[in-house]
Amino acid sequence: MIKQLSTAFLLLLLISCNQQPKKVSQELNSPNSKNNITFELNNGVPFYSVSHGEKSVISPSKLGFVFKNNDSLSSNFEVIKMETTSFDETWEQVWGEKKSIQNNYNQLSVLLQEKSENKRNLEVQFRAFDDGIAFRYIYPEQGKDSVFIMDELTQFNLKDDGDAWWIGAYQDNRYEYLTTKSPVSTLDTVHTPLTINSENGLSISFHEANLKDFASMTLERTNGTNLKSNLVPWADGDKVKTNGSFTTPWRTLQIAETPGDLITSYLILNLNDSNKFEDTSWIKPHKYLGIWWGMHIGKYSFWESPIQGATTTNAFEHIDYCEKLGIDHLLIEGWNKGWTPAWYENAMHQFNFTKEADNFDLEKVTEYAKSKGVSIIGYHETGSNIINYLAQIDEGMELYQKNGIHDVKIGQVGSRLNMKEWHHGQFGVNYYRQVLETAAKYQLTVNFHEPIKDTGERRTYPNMMAREGARGQEYNAWSDGNPPNHTAILPFTRFLAGPMDFTPGVLDVEIKQGYEGRDVHTTAAKQLALYVVLYSPIQMLADLPENYDGNPAFKFLQDVPVDWEDTKVLNAEIGEYITTVRKDKYSDDWYLGSLTNEESRSFHIDLSFLDKDVTYEAQIYADEIGTTWNKNATKVAITSKEVKSSDILKINLSEGGGTAIRFKKL
Ligand code: NOJ
Repeated sequence: MIKQLSTAFLLLLLISCNQQPKKVSQELNSPNSKNNITFELNNGVPFYSVSHGEKSVISPSKLGFVFKNNDSLSSNFEVIKMETTSFDETWEQVWGEKKSIQNNYNQLSVLLQEKSENKRNLEVQFRAFDDGIAFRYIYPEQGKDSVFIMDELTQFNLKDDGDAWWIGAYQDNRYEYLTTKSPVSTLDTVHTPLTINSENGLSISFHEANLKDFASMTLERTNGTNLKSNLVPWADGDKVKTNGSFTTPWRTLQIAETPGDLITSYLILNLNDSNKFEDTSWIKPHKYLGIWWGMHIGKYSFWESPIQGATTTNAFEHIDYCEKLGIDHLLIEGWNKGWTPAWYENAMHQFNFTKEADNFDLEKVTEYAKSKGVSIIGYHETGSNIINYLAQIDEGMELYQKNGIHDVKIGQVGSRLNMKEWHHGQFGVNYYRQVLETAAKYQLTVNFHEPIKDTGERRTYPNMMAREGARGQEYNAWSDGNPPNHTAILPFTRFLAGPMDFTPGVLDVEIKQGYEGRDVHTTAAKQLALYVVLYSPIQMLADLPENYDGNPAFKFLQDVPVDWEDTKVLNAEIGEYITTVRKDKYSDDWYLGSLTNEESRSFHIDLSFLDKDVTYEAQIYADEIGTTWNKNATKVAITSKEVKSSDILKINLSEGGGTAIRFKKL
């Protein structure tokens, strides 16, 4: 698939004659020529800049590293070789928001060499896609058995200011904060994805792809609108420890003309390696009930007590609910020894991954589940005691495999791994990768909570289903909760990285069995819309099963798929509203999810995404007139009507509300 666009520019001759000009520069265009990267070596210092059409996006920005002992690899270079290639392929996702994805880019690879006696090489690979740009560094093995990166000097000098949606890096609750909106020129150090509505009219988002054996990149504002890579350090201050060579993750910038186009950009996935697994038959996207929300709202406890959630009796009852409600997966948390009322405090907790709590019998529960056609989802809470977990991981996973379990949720509650390392430093990156690979050995899919950010690993390891990595539904159970605009921001920020286990579907938004004064700040109809707007191959039906039983709105949750043929965003403004439609991978049906922040809105939806000349039954779940996120919020109006692709459908969303629609082909 790789096509040579131009023969390598062999500059060797010039170098040997000491004739390399003071300035070497090379341009790279995306296949549709809209996105453009310019590489420049100016007096030995490498720079890159980025533009979109006539608009400059990134002004000349420096590249390079500082190694231990202030050893800088950022100047005094000459270009040894430049090569431009192009690539075009369409590949299929094992599961996902779109079945077939086109990976089409032009690449410029620049080999630099220091002019000093060290003569160290550094390769920079640039890729220009129609939906953005990316680049990475390759530092080849060159005579040293260890290299320690103390700083990455990569700059991202934004030409224009703009509104940025961000969460601050280096906080104890990892990524679990509300998103702030403010001008780029006021940022401190922030996590990626960092999404910006630029003053130049473009929507852009910084992130990284294929993060392995490296530290996560956060972005630090140095001055004005200039940002710089800020790698998350080890406890001892090193940023990245290597065996003498390294390849960085791709530094990515998605570039779109509308915010909705950021969501249907697959650049991050395209920059990951293809699927490693030959057999994926054990990997099944699914919806699941749980013995879970009850713990968060205070109805049950995680630990052994008179109200323990994970007892054999309660598990049997939940399995019966699964059968009755037609849901084939059940998550059970708190079934093992090690839980205490202080399980969430920072400490080296001693969870045991093979010993059951006294009132819980794993074998009996999994056998009963099997007899009812239900799969149990296992749970490993590590409490961030990684030493304890890794010592037991094989036994713990083997036990699940022996009991026919194929899915495991893995938690890392705590401010630091082993009370020492940031979750998102190189230590954490390697830890999460090790767990994912171990899980694959036991044919287990993984749902990480308190994860590191997603950088597209699911393409290579399709058992990497979803992760948390933002404030999920649980915050509504025991804190001031997530404001109505939260889920109007997440699709443009956290979800650009990959699927999130947000755990939607709390239809009793007033949480009648919960703590005094706590509720979910959406209408029930908006909870339904989340299943279409927030993509994940595993979707929890988070509410207590008794709140679903007999509730007509639950029909939508039974019907809505988790694996899609195609996705389109029909309208979107970051933090305001979004309407997404997705086509089921296994039928001709389409589903729509539309949601708003605190403002009520009406939309005229052009149904031209439907097949021409056929009739669909639109099954509409909307906010009942008079409901808002804090008044009569549980009321869902369910109606149906026949529609065609030539129709325009008007939908009304109340304050903090939403609409969910199944378009059933007749
Ligand atoms: C936090 C996770 O997000 C939640 O889903 C889990 O129930 C608790 N930790 C307990 O591990």
